[in-house]
This record gives sequence, structure tokens and C-alpha cells, in this order.
Amino acid sequence: MKIQNICCIGAGYVGGPTMAVIAKKCPDIKVTVVDINQARIAAWNDENVDNIPVYEPGLPAVVAEARGRNLFFSNDVDKAIDEAEMIFISVNTPTKTYGEGKGQAADLKWIELCARQIARVAKGDKIVVEKSTLPVRTASTLKDILTHTGNGLSFQILSNPEFLAEGTAVDDLMNPDRVLIGGDQTEEGLKAIQALVDVYAHWVPEEKILTTNVWSSELSKLTANAFLAQRVSSINSLSELCEHTEADINEVARAIGTDSRIGPKFLKSSVGFGGSCFQKDILNLVYISRTYGLQEVADYWEQVIIMNDHQKRRFAKKIIKSLYNTVNGKKIAFLGWAFKKDTNDTRESAAIYVADHLLNEQSAIEIFDPKVKKEQIYTDLDYLGTRSPEENRENLLVGTDPYKICEGAHAVAVLTEWDEFKSYDWQRIYDSMLKPAHVFDGRNLLDKEALKAIGFQVHAIGTAD
Ligand code: NAI
Repeated sequence: MKIQNICCIGAGYVGGPTMAVIAKKCPDIKVTVVDINQARIAAWNDENVDNIPVYEPGLPAVVAEARGRNLFFSNDVDKAIDEAEMIFISVNTPTKTYGEGKGQAADLKWIELCARQIARVAKGDKIVVEKSTLPVRTASTLKDILTHTGNGLSFQILSNPEFLAEGTAVDDLMNPDRVLIGGDQTEEGLKAIQALVDVYAHWVPEEKILTTNVWSSELSKLTANAFLAQRVSSINSLSELCEHTEADINEVARAIGTDSRIGPKFLKSSVGFGGSCFQKDILNLVYISRTYGLQEVADYWEQVIIMNDHQKRRFAKKIIKSLYNTVNGKKIAFLGWAFKKDTNDTRESAAIYVADHLLNEQSAIEIFDPKVKKEQIYTDLDYLGTRSPEENRENLLVGTDPYKICEGAHAVAVLTEWDEFKSYDWQRIYDSMLKPAHVFDGRNLLDKEALKAIGFQVHAIGTAD
């Protein structure tokens, strides 16, 4: 079966870039990305490609090439479903905030709505592809909904989790380590798998396209994120020990990373991981394990989150302790709000929690981030509900000039590893601050010795002060 028409429901951080790259690489396939969010679709269609809603290096060029040719963004979900032979579901699957499984299970409300909409609209057989990250066995729920519509159509459900990392999404999509496709091991299921393999084979070498049964594929995505987050929590746990023993976490990471069984990547200690996925996916894994009565498995993975929360709290506490145990009324400048560099995504960013902790101590915070908009920062803080929106706006300001936000500050805290922070004129920053002037480098980004030579008191992660 040759796919000519693809629809993707969900024009977010995954749906947008993923479909843009499929459209670029497969000019023979029409790709329509749909969303219920009108503002988001309007932004994807903005004449100026630099205004698309997802900031990713290289993405504007990909969109500019394919948009209007074989890549379309639309709010007409029904029409796109009707026209497509293959439908990707790439909607959000956040942690539940209510009811059974609150705070742990994935909220599958949006996934189910998509399935019901497909069931209602479809007039022909469809291949439905789970692109969202889903709990293992979700495909059976989708199948149930789709096959009980009474319209006699046949639906194949595939799992095709997305492994892109934000900040490097375009590179990751162009040259993936692997593409994973899970499906039913029946004749019809294997045909559907092959149809999706053929799409990726436009640019991905076949040996990098792995096919499995649908459950292995679903669980592999949760497992991959759990392993990645676990590495961060592992190195972060040891960073605390380093701070007490004069061992240097950067040296330890280099020493162990040369072991080919461990490998050098993802061994950088920091203020803690953020992003929309790691925490939600591990919590989901914990919840699923508990559902099956696997207490030890659940406890094991839960520790990764406990460690990460500790690391964020510890960073905020260190700031307070170093500023003579009070930050009341003291200005602290934050460099960075995004959860990592090269993205405008702030979901679960460590900066949010560090700011919240400091605001509880009545600190005055000023923030500069090269790509995050002011309204987003306030939305993130308001969402926590710790204090009123008015109080948040009173005690936390967002600036557009990094030098200005540092003027008169007691401390600068680096929360995101944006490259540009390294090339700032740190002497100028020092001169404008109150003394003693502190730098808390939550990303081990800056040159500690150079800052010390200027006169800063420098606090990095995983090295003694
Ligand atoms: P997102 O929140 O940026 O985008 C989801 C979009 O789906 C939103 O624009 C929303 O309006 C839309 N949507 C929700 N229900 C809809 C419906 N019924 N009809 C039409 N549109 C609807 O989320 P993001 O980050 O793109 O994540 C999507 C999925 O991909 C999640 O399951 C996530 O876990 C997974 N994922 C995310 C990665 C990331 O780096 N953000 C990486 C790999 C997987």
C-alpha cells in the first residue's frame, strides 16, 4: 500500500517538526498538520517563517521549503482525517491532574477524543499511528474505540514513538539513531508496518528502521526516557557528594564516560532535568508498574524523580544560604528560563521551581531568556498556584537586556545553558552588581576561574566552592 496522504493531529513540538521533515523528504506525499488551537495553526502559517510557534534551529528553512507545496497546516481536522490514508496522533499526553492516578498516570483524554473523531469521520480504511508517547497497551484502547463504530471499516494501529530531542529536533529527524515502528503481527498489521517503513525509507537507511510488536514499541519509548533521565539523576546525585569531598563532578564524568560500556553522553550535572517528557513518562512508568503490583519496580524508577526534585530544591537553598540565609528583597538575576538551550519550550523547566522557591523567601527576581516570551514565564508561575498572579508580576520581572537585569543584583543564577551567556562581558556585569557578587551556575556553563579572577564568588554544581 502506497501512502499518498498523511494527516497529523496535533501541531505541537512533535507534530510540527516531524511532519515538516516528512514533507521535505517525501515530496510525493501530501502532509496536513491539524490542530484545534487556531492561534497555533495561524502561527505555523505565518508568512514570516521565523514566527512559527516552535523555535528549533533549522526548522524555518524546512517549513519554508515544503509549506504550500506538500505541507499544510489547518484547523479543519475532519477534512484532513477524511482525506488521509494514514493518520498520526501527536497530541499532548500530560500527567493527570485529577481523579484516579492524579499526579502519575498519563491523561489520555485527548488521545481518546482523537480516536472518536477518526471513528466518526472516516469513510474508508485507515492506518492510525500513535506518535504521542503512550502507556503500554494504549493501542488496544484505540482499537476498541475504532472497531466499535459499526461502520465496518478496518483500522490498523501502529506505534511509532518519537525520539527527537528538543533543540536538535531537525537534525534528529533528518538523521535518526533509529525509527521504531510497532504493529500487529498479523498479515494486515505487517502490511501497515510496511506502509510506514516505506515513508521513512525515503531518507532513513532501512537498517535503522526497527519493527516490533506494538507493545514493545509503546514500552520502548517510556524506557528510553526513563534511562536518559536516570543518567541525569545519577550524575546529579554524585554532584552533591563531590561538593562535600572536593572531587570534581566534571572530572568524574570524564573518567567514567571513557568506559565504552558507559559512554560520554548525558553525563553533565546540572540544576536538574526539565521538559515535558522525562518526568511525565517516568511517573507513567511508575504508575503502570504499581497497577501491575510491581512495587519494587515502581519505587526504583520513582527515585529518579525524587532525586531531580531534590537537585532543584538544593540549588535554590544554596543561593539562600550563600546570601547569608536571607534573600528577602534581594535582587537575583536569572539567565535562562527554557528547560534547555535552543528551544522556547519551558514545560517543567527547573527555572520555574527555583524561582518559586526563591519567591517564597520574598526575593526579587529578574529574568532574561533569549527565546522565551514574558507571558509564558508568568503563565508557568501562575500555573503552580503558589501565589496570586498579581504577586508573581510584582516580585518577578522579565527583561529584554541581560546586562540590565543584572544591575544591582546580589547574584546571577544561570538556569539554561544558552551559548550566548558564555560570551557576555562578565566584567561589565560584575561592575554593575552589589558586592560580594555571586554567580550560581546551574549548568556548569561558565568559566569558573575567569569569573573568580574578576572577583565573583562562583558556585557551580558538583565542585567545592
Ligand atoms: P504539544 O502540547 O506541543 O502539542 C500537542 C498539540 O495537540 C496541541 O497544539 C493541542 O492543541 C493539540 N491537540 C490536542 N487535542 C487535540 C485534538 N483533539 N484535535 C486536534 N489537536 C489537538 O505537545 P508535544 O510536545 O508536541 O507532545 C506531543 C506528544 O509527543 C506527547 O505525547 C509527548 O509525550 C510526545 N513527545 C514529545 C516530545 C517533545 O520533545 N516534546 C518528544 C517525543 C515525544
